[in-house]
Amino acid sequence: MEFIGFLTMAVFIVVVLYLLCRLLLSCWVFPVLTYRKLKKNGLTGPTPSFPLGNLSEMKKKTSQSSTSSSFGPSSNSITHDIHSTLFPYFARWQKAYGKMFVYWLGTEPFLYVADAALLKKLSSEVTAKNWGKPAVFRRDRAPMFGNGLVMSEGDDWVRHRHVITPAFNPTNLKAMASLMVETATTMLDNWATQINTSGIQEIDVEDSITATAGEIIAKTSFGISHHSGSLVFEKLRALQMTLFKTTRFVGVPFGKFIYPMKTLEAGRLGEEINQLFLSIIAARKKSIRSESPQHDLLGMLLKESDKPGNFSKSLTTQELVDECKTFFFGGHETTALAITWTMLLLATHTDWQEQLRAEIKEVVGDKEIDVNNLAGLKKMGWVMNEVLRLYPSAPNAQRQAKDDIQVSEDLTIPKGTNMWIDTVGMHHDPELWGEDVHEFKPERFKMGYLPFGFGGRMCIGRNLTFLEYKIVLTLILSRFSFTVSPTYTHAPSIALSLRPCNGLPLVLQPLN
Ligand code: HEM
Repeated sequence: MEFIGFLTMAVFIVVVLYLLCRLLLSCWVFPVLTYRKLKKNGLTGPTPSFPLGNLSEMKKKTSQSSTSSSFGPSSNSITHDIHSTLFPYFARWQKAYGKMFVYWLGTEPFLYVADAALLKKLSSEVTAKNWGKPAVFRRDRAPMFGNGLVMSEGDDWVRHRHVITPAFNPTNLKAMASLMVETATTMLDNWATQINTSGIQEIDVEDSITATAGEIIAKTSFGISHHSGSLVFEKLRALQMTLFKTTRFVGVPFGKFIYPMKTLEAGRLGEEINQLFLSIIAARKKSIRSESPQHDLLGMLLKESDKPGNFSKSLTTQELVDECKTFFFGGHETTALAITWTMLLLATHTDWQEQLRAEIKEVVGDKEIDVNNLAGLKKMGWVMNEVLRLYPSAPNAQRQAKDDIQVSEDLTIPKGTNMWIDTVGMHHDPELWGEDVHEFKPERFKMGYLPFGFGGRMCIGRNLTFLEYKIVLTLILSRFSFTVSPTYTHAPSIALSLRPCNGLPLVLQPLN
């Protein structure tokens, strides 16, 4: 009896010691070793404290800067100089340590990069397969993306990207155009009815543009009804707010236990979204062998996965669910924000509304939109680039080096290094763009411009965005002119993506 008691105690002590060792290794030894290697390369940064790293300084400034007054109380004082207000800590650290430095999220060191020339070199020299995503984000964002394309790594990433890429070929994209026109037209009809019946011309366009983009992705990628799409949409939005709009301690050991209710809430929402997609997939699996299978994204993924022996191309059911979540979220919010910010910039630059209307008249005329003509909307393409420069929907990108990366004779990025690429910082860098960097000038372009990411992991949905952006904007500009409402407060904020915190009320004038 005594012996069993002794054995149990010994096992208990060994397990505790093992867990403590693992904790020490992951929270202390490995991060410090990586940091030392970075320091050897001459990289320094703000002094961290244990266990928060530099989080306390970052959190303090974020809460101060998220008030709308930082950007000006009304449309009269809209400033596009958003980097130092959204990321005051990065702006300050850049001044002290340059465009590359090391800062700490809890016990995780991150290499901050806002050096466009370095990124250009990295994009050409490191293959996409050798880029991972920081483990700390892979874990934290699992309820939202699972192991979908945004988060997958190595051979898994190659397989997923290989299976998904054909879904974005020009033929498939063109087939989506009529659904885009139909859905966007319904939104504009609603705006017109609202103005006619209430006589009030002010409409908060952000909400309806986001809902319309959600409906477009639901129909074009998954062939699901407005109702099922809305359910997924609501839950994803709630999950996004739980994960990104609240004070959390990502990178801090046991950080998820500091706010256990939020961690549980994120897990619950993630699971509910999984269940919704599982039932959509089950229904679609039944129909793939039917006479007329749907040729949307989900249809293509299912078709590949259904082929016997097609292991190199097939995805498991959980992988399918993860891709559905990734595409539903990545596919609507980014494009919706690009259109929303465009509406703000065009509302404050009505001369550009006129130029785009003239271009639409020339290219599209009074006929229905023909996708083959959309490439002719050159100025609209410039406007989209300039909007995504000033307000990149995806304000940063992250990487983890899977091997040592020899950048130059005196700089090696060690294996395991987390990287934080500051897209907003580069898009607002006067050294790259000139002194008029914060002005809306659609006619310019250069490197340092990364709205769709860089290298082999560049956004897979960018052509879908070009199509949707041009269609929706053409329809809006053909039916309305607009100015910013006096009630608008300029408050860009980050909740994973870069969004207008208080919506976008515009005053719309129907055109005859
Ligand atoms: C304005 C619209 C969009 C913007 C600004 C945008 C931006 C980005 C960025 C910055 C990345 C990260 C690239 C990197 O890590 O270097 C990315 C990746 C990705 N985007 Fe987009 N995106 C947009 C639209 C879309 C759409 C419409 C879809 C899908 C329908 C989509 C799906 C994805 C996926 C799956 C990835 C991961 C790619 C990979 O790692 O292989 N995005 N996007």
